[in-house]
Amino acid sequence: MIIENIRKTFFELYGKKEIEPVVFFAPGRVNLIGEHTDYNGGFVLPCAIQYGTYLLIRLSNDGMIRLASTNMKEELVISVTDIFAKSPGKWTNYPLGVMDQFLKLGFRMTGMELLFSGDIPNSAGLSSSASIEMVTAFALNELLNCNLDKIALIQLSRRAEHEFAGVNCGIMDQFAVGMCSAGHALFLNCHTLEYKMIPMKMNGYTLIIANTNKPRRLADSKYNERVAECQLAVACLAPYVDISRLGELGYPQFYKLQDKISDEVIRKRARHVVSENQRVLNSVNSLLRNDFVQFGNLMNISHDSLRDDYEVTGIELDTLVDEARKIKGVSGSRMTGAGFGGCTVSLVKNESVDHFIRQVGEAYTLKTGLKADFYLAEIGDSVKKSNGLH
Ligand code: GLA
Repeated sequence: MIIENIRKTFFELYGKKEIEPVVFFAPGRVNLIGEHTDYNGGFVLPCAIQYGTYLLIRLSNDGMIRLASTNMKEELVISVTDIFAKSPGKWTNYPLGVMDQFLKLGFRMTGMELLFSGDIPNSAGLSSSASIEMVTAFALNELLNCNLDKIALIQLSRRAEHEFAGVNCGIMDQFAVGMCSAGHALFLNCHTLEYKMIPMKMNGYTLIIANTNKPRRLADSKYNERVAECQLAVACLAPYVDISRLGELGYPQFYKLQDKISDEVIRKRARHVVSENQRVLNSVNSLLRNDFVQFGNLMNISHDSLRDDYEVTGIELDTLVDEARKIKGVSGSRMTGAGFGGCTVSLVKNESVDHFIRQVGEAYTLKTGLKADFYLAEIGDSVKKSNGLH
């Protein structure tokens, strides 16, 4: 939806007043590699995409918070004194959760009118929720003069997701939305939060995101189950090695100790995390050398590990990946995000893009009965105040 139309909807909902609404924008993200490593204090390599969430926001002095979205039917009007009240399963939990965090940090909330409008497909693993959280946090910080730095906004948005949405996520999504820059991937150590921007010179390649359009039922509870399984793996290893998270373990060390994890499932989960962490480091080296063939290989191995060891793929994601790998000019293909449905990301030679979309799309429908959507990713910028020209 273009910004002028969102502005029109804003005035239809809230009326014209002396003060104009201010416009902010936060992108979604696609993770290139480093899946389910963030909550283990490991490495990730996401980049921001061109799709994202606009927020038009105007402060008011009636003590009421009004939330609406051009994408969702539910609207909410609540008093600033009722922000702590969650509404299970509703999109409004994301902005409310963020406001709640501002209150917990001791800031005062005032009345305000908010209209969100986004083009990130929901439940697709492209961080539509982190995008809503971060655009809200960034806007409140600016309009309420809170002077929090971006890291603080990222951390409070993550806490909002834990406390209001009930997902025990890592920090990757909020960090990517808050810190990425155009033309770069973000190489992040999720434990220390040290990061480096890695130039993505595309050299005749395109990143294609393919959406399974599979409804992600129970995805949040399965996600939390994986988080708990990793904690269990750490508990099994802790008597033998001084670690508090799997991200501290190198592969050779894990290999020696793996038998200490007697449960095979838990051992597989740990093997994925430890090996995936190493793959992120190898991927960064490949990208710095512009070696997209090696990088593509690492993407492939990452998917296979998520399928066999972490068990978060499923027939839809596996079909998209298998079909992608049959296409000439594809250097790698993997699921991206939490899994259990959602999207794949593939690195494809420019001349093969049309063929890829046609061929993979047809084969996917034939096998699953579902229709996939395809997006050509442009590597975008992080959250910002918008001039409306995005
Ligand atoms: C979701 C979470 C992230 C991360 C990924 C998997 O997107 O929000 O924190 O754990 O899954 O890599």
